[in-house]
Amino acid sequence: MIMKRAVFALAAIGAVAGVIAFTESASGQTGGETAPIYGVKIPAGYRDWTLISVARVGAPLNDIRAKLGNDVATRAFREATIPFPDGTIIARLAWNQVSSEENNRAFTAILERRLSPDALQKLLSESFVAGPATNVQFMIKDSTKYASTGGWGFAQFTDGKPDGEAVHKTCFPCHAQARDRDLVFTGYSR
Ligand code: HEC
Repeated sequence: MIMKRAVFALAAIGAVAGVIAFTESASGQTGGETAPIYGVKIPAGYRDWTLISVARVGAPLNDIRAKLGNDVATRAFREATIPFPDGTIIARLAWNQVSSEENNRAFTAILERRLSPDALQKLLSESFVAGPATNVQFMIKDSTKYASTGGWGFAQFTDGKPDGEAVHKTCFPCHAQARDRDLVFTGYSR
């Protein structure tokens, strides 16, 4: 059953990737809707970019996050280049954390002889995998176009649709706290 679902999910991702490739425009952005304020569309092919790092955020969000970078971003992260060069794009993907019965059964089979019942229960209750996607965020570096916001354009999409203006107004002020790292919180995880 889980295998079947995984196959469906893979097929769905394949279909989405195909659509994105098909609608790719000369600018490297997809043909989808433009997010407010910074005028950003979902960048083509972002799901295939390089993994920079992961993070988890606790309740009430309870999500698991991955940061991906395009080639310019990846080079800058690896070489710790600050400020990030124009052309940098960082993607932040996020999924609801869910527990996996299948994983937990496998852990239990091995660990019930090594851990106390309490310890095993704790391990299982704190083990999660990525469930449904919540939203995807992007930061795009263009020091001319986005001069008034530290050189960064921000965008957030839920189910492929841009979120509203109010949400987009929150991005820059909060990211400005990471001013000494060019507004980027995440570091490269080796
Ligand atoms: C309340 C503060 C806050 C707000 C508001 C906020 N962010 Fe972030 N953002 C963070 C923090 C902290 C991280 C690093 C940890 C993480 O990934 O959650 C982050 C990470 C990111 C990253 C990965 C690069 C990095 O800086 O680590 C992107 C891309 C991003 N945010 C985009 C956005 C966009 C787009 C918006 C607005 C729609 C936004 N953020 C709003 C705090 C914020």
